[in-house]
Amino acid sequence: MSSAKSKPTKKQTSDHSAALSATYKPSAEFSKKARIGSMAAYEKLYKSSIEKPEKFWGSEAKELHWQKPFSKVLEWKCPDAKWFTGGKINVAENCVDRHAKGPRANKAAIIFEGEPGDTRTITYAQLHREVCQFANVLLKRGVKAKDRVLIYMPMIPEAAVAMLACARIGAVHNVVFGGFASEAILDRLEDSGATAIITADGGWRRGKIIPLKPAVDEALKKYSKVKNIFVVNRTGNEVSMKAKRDLWWHEEMASASAKHEPKGFDSEHPLFILYTSGSTGKPKGILHTSGGYLTGTYSTCKYIFDMRDEDVYWCTADVGWITGHSYIVYGPLANGATQVMYEGAPNQPDFGRFWKMIEQHRVSIFYTAPTAIRAFIKAGDEFPEKYDLSSLRLLGSVGEPINPEAWHWYHEKIGGGRCPIVDTWWQTETGAILISPIPGATSCIPGTATRPFFGIDAAILDDAGNECPPNVDGRLVIRKPWPSMTRTIYGDKARFKKTYFSDYPGLYTAGDGARRDKKGNFWIIGRLDDVLNVSGHRLGTAEIESALVAHPAVAEAAVVGRPHDLKGQAVAAFVTLKIGYEASAQLENELRNHVGHVIGAIAKPDDIYFTPGLPKTRSGKIIRRLLKELVTIGTISGNITTLDDITVIDHLKILLKK
Ligand code: WTA
Repeated sequence: MSSAKSKPTKKQTSDHSAALSATYKPSAEFSKKARIGSMAAYEKLYKSSIEKPEKFWGSEAKELHWQKPFSKVLEWKCPDAKWFTGGKINVAENCVDRHAKGPRANKAAIIFEGEPGDTRTITYAQLHREVCQFANVLLKRGVKAKDRVLIYMPMIPEAAVAMLACARIGAVHNVVFGGFASEAILDRLEDSGATAIITADGGWRRGKIIPLKPAVDEALKKYSKVKNIFVVNRTGNEVSMKAKRDLWWHEEMASASAKHEPKGFDSEHPLFILYTSGSTGKPKGILHTSGGYLTGTYSTCKYIFDMRDEDVYWCTADVGWITGHSYIVYGPLANGATQVMYEGAPNQPDFGRFWKMIEQHRVSIFYTAPTAIRAFIKAGDEFPEKYDLSSLRLLGSVGEPINPEAWHWYHEKIGGGRCPIVDTWWQTETGAILISPIPGATSCIPGTATRPFFGIDAAILDDAGNECPPNVDGRLVIRKPWPSMTRTIYGDKARFKKTYFSDYPGLYTAGDGARRDKKGNFWIIGRLDDVLNVSGHRLGTAEIESALVAHPAVAEAAVVGRPHDLKGQAVAAFVTLKIGYEASAQLENELRNHVGHVIGAIAKPDDIYFTPGLPKTRSGKIIRRLLKELVTIGTISGNITTLDDITVIDHLKILLKK
């Protein structure tokens, strides 16, 4: 692998801040081999893709296999997008059969490593067999096209097989992150109307078994539409199996045929629902469809990760998040990539695990989140230094803005100063990456996701809808539709329209604040709504608040984010208690666990403040802005004249000093 370093153009000096704002051009060697090898090539294709987006996307889509070619690229009547109409496509066929039936048949699709160290390599031919078999299992048990199937699994290959088998028969999967609790499963079952569940006995995490099936059983006490639960035997912990309803994966697979002809579905056939936090208590079921979503994930993988047959790609996300959907399952497999999949924690048995795996599997493209990078920085350089990371050629980052300190550490300690870093901005709703460097072309600058992807018309607007001048903060919008955009919030079209298309009629509002520098680079500031980004995971403050008030002791709760070294943001909760309850360390603990039980461990508040009152307007609205200032800067700088009861603030200030 090359040792050519991507040199900062501003000569790196001992001046720390100069180093932090340096610009990193890709090495000539990287650019020479890349699909898009210069900024001029990027500009040219970008310009034509914006002038004629349908031409660009149409030609990307044609690289996929269509059982019936599409007759029209786009039908757009805001907020309804229909991409590649008239076309029939089978998403799983594109991700699996296309490769299994060609020269990639015996190429590794998934190199799996379990946390305890067990490994399995699955070729495209094997993946094809497993997906066909499980598709036949689902069909045999009566799962039909458009039925909703909830998937609650650890990071094991069966998770990808389950998703692809659903896609193959046109069933709509809803993956629920394995760290979520039974009530979150129940909410999603009810909202999606799922009739089947695919789960496992448990998964390995930090040396322990995390049971999964019991959480499903708990949720099903209050939901009766599920006809079958398919259970993978992963960890061997005892689980209860209800006769006829609960079926072992391996038993079902043993008798299932590996022959299955993929049927073509309409391009707009629903592919999956993935729930994500919004600014109300109820998570939104983001719906993605087939042809457009696959085109977006395929095309971004190809250009942004510049994926090649000889690459070993590894995305450390979980399939429970959109990153796992788009950049573990659909995008890389549509590209015929070889990828590593890892079940467990980054620090098991120690913080060298990732680096050891990169060395062992000769990983060349590595995609992770800033929160993980910060945890590695804290753990110490001795971990990556022990391993040979020279196979890496490209690094990626996703989930939140990457702070320059983390960027530099990643670049130097992991990338050996030689790998471009693609800082990729996107969302559950966007389906695929929308803003990112193109690695052979774009000069990377720590902290900016740089420029929009081809066909993406991104802009920053002020409240009046005018485009902001350079370096002025505004709202990030996308002015033209793109294929992998969400089509609706499942069962709530009105909320879909209101959330994404009502700030500026006809334009998609991302909900992020951003600015653009003079060169056109986008700097993402963060969410403008009541959504927190904790360790790269989206959490709605309203969701945590409603979990807190569901506890018998809590009268009212307000949740805000505060800066946190490792997680990016931490959860701070202000709680008023009902009469008869007293603040105590025990109650604090109980509330924390209660939130963990209702939503999942990631939502547990870091700080809980018991207060006799919350700052409110005279009309009774909680002013979270003041709480946010209090936990961020320790005081209140803004106007408080609208407050109903000013003494609340004094009380809170005292509380925070404690
Ligand atoms: C944030 C994750 C800055 C952003 C793929 C967005 C980022 C939210 C970046 C979506 C990035 C994601 N730079 N911010 N590179 N990537 N975000 O739906 O606030 O879990 O709106 O999708 O994460 O989170 P979601």
